[in-house]
Amino acid sequence: SPLFGLSQICESGIGYCDSESVLSSKVLIAGGTVVNADHQEVADVYVEDGVIVDVRPNIKVSDGVRIIDATGKFVMPGGIDPHTHLAMEFMGTETIDNFFSGQAAALAGGTTMHIDFVIPVHGSLSKGYEAYVEKAKLSCMDYGFHMAITKWDDTVSKEMEIMVKENGINSFKFFMAYKGSLMISDELLLEGLKQCKSLGALAMVHAENGDAVFEGQKRMIELGITGPEGHALSRPPVLEGEATARAIRLAAFVNAPLYVVHVMSIDAMEEIARAQKSGQKVIGEPVVSGLVLDDSVLWDPDFITAAKQVTIFLFVMSPPIRAPGHGKALQAALSTGILKLVGTDHCTFNSTQKSFGIDDFRKIPNGVNGLEERMHLVWDTMVESGQLSVTDFVRVTSTECAKLFNIYPRKGAIRAGSDADIIIFNPNSTFHISASSHHSRSDTNVYEGRHGKGKVEVTIAGGKIVWENDELKVVPGSGKYVSMPPFNYLYNGIDKADENYLTSLKAPVNRIKPSL
Ligand code: URP
Ligand code: ZN
Ligand code: ZN
Repeated sequence: SPLFGLSQICESGIGYCDSESVLSSKVLIAGGTVVNADHQEVADVYVEDGVIVDVRPNIKVSDGVRIIDATGKFVMPGGIDPHTHLAMEFMGTETIDNFFSGQAAALAGGTTMHIDFVIPVHGSLSKGYEAYVEKAKLSCMDYGFHMAITKWDDTVSKEMEIMVKENGINSFKFFMAYKGSLMISDELLLEGLKQCKSLGALAMVHAENGDAVFEGQKRMIELGITGPEGHALSRPPVLEGEATARAIRLAAFVNAPLYVVHVMSIDAMEEIARAQKSGQKVIGEPVVSGLVLDDSVLWDPDFITAAKQVTIFLFVMSPPIRAPGHGKALQAALSTGILKLVGTDHCTFNSTQKSFGIDDFRKIPNGVNGLEERMHLVWDTMVESGQLSVTDFVRVTSTECAKLFNIYPRKGAIRAGSDADIIIFNPNSTFHISASSHHSRSDTNVYEGRHGKGKVEVTIAGGKIVWENDELKVVPGSGKYVSMPPFNYLYNGIDKADENYLTSLKAPVNRIKPSL
């Protein structure tokens, strides 16, 4: 039972838990503005046993129900982060946040579910899945899995089917970069796209030209550029644009929906916009770092000193954080709907791990934090600037993710019957980011010193109040795996398009020209 030995299993430094908070299963959130992706209204929200039971004004409750006054505040679905890497073995080390510390950080920042990428073991999906089931036993909030595909044969193809039909995985990621480790070929990508389509799964790509990146890295080393600026210089936006265009065209060739993860550049975003304009089903996911950071720190003479160099190492992720201008363009694309939902790519290494690349940028483990910061930074950057409405904020941080991964309206909505994953957000308060107060296990934070308007004051996950008064009450092992069924809304109409294409192919060649 999750209540067994609570005082021992609550990790010190993360927060604490007590049986009262774990047991309180009836909560009324009174008088707040309830915001869904399509509507907002002043209403009460009544929660019992982990589920939202009622949403309407003036709900009356009996004694024994915890009442939280949300007057003047927004009551919104907890965030869902579509892109995280917890306890991931990568570049010779392992990310510092595991399924407990990463999720605790998420809850403190108003995110109540995330989808993590299972990495196969020597290409084996089943072994990778087993390893991640083990890692996720520490979970204190709900989570789902995507699965990476790193090699191709009949076994992998069959295992994809098992993952979808038996293990609740409905998305597969193909790395077009990281030559020599995770990178796949175009041939594999085509096979993978076809198999995803036949299973109703969503194909996802890390879009950078890995061969060209390898060449770019060699070029930098030959020029004697071994510092972290070599990382950005070796993988410029053109390589992200090229791979994005290639993946989009291959997806068009087999008429499969495509999801492009961590869109970091104008080049990639414009390829997505072009494909959408032509009617192709392509989803673009910006990540918080790409929206709010830029690479100017790389070229700041102030950061030449050894102590400050470490700060620059923190910025190393792939695709790289780009020059000023890209972030603004990505924000605009998010506000107009070209980019659909915001992830973090939370893949955190501490300063010791980042220093592995002190003499060679190719050895700096790639990745930045963001799970705890995403909701606040998206609000401050997008809503406070007038680029997104409050309802759109809910859409890009929660609802769209739930729809794409086919778990809406169980997740991503404040309505009767939905899981009680809820945040109370005070738009008149402020947030401050620092490694000294964050809940990640990392000793650094790429957003150090940032502050802004709005604050997640309360997080309710699975009906439990887990974050309140700046205190976390979390229990390892209390998070649940969320199984995600195939054939999301992007699949509507795909079979009709295929039928029409096949019919045209079967027609006598001289009468109808088949169209791809
Ligand atoms: O630098 C990054 N993005 N690290 C995580 C792995 C990936 O490519 O998503
Ligand atoms: Zn990636
Ligand atoms: Zn990632």
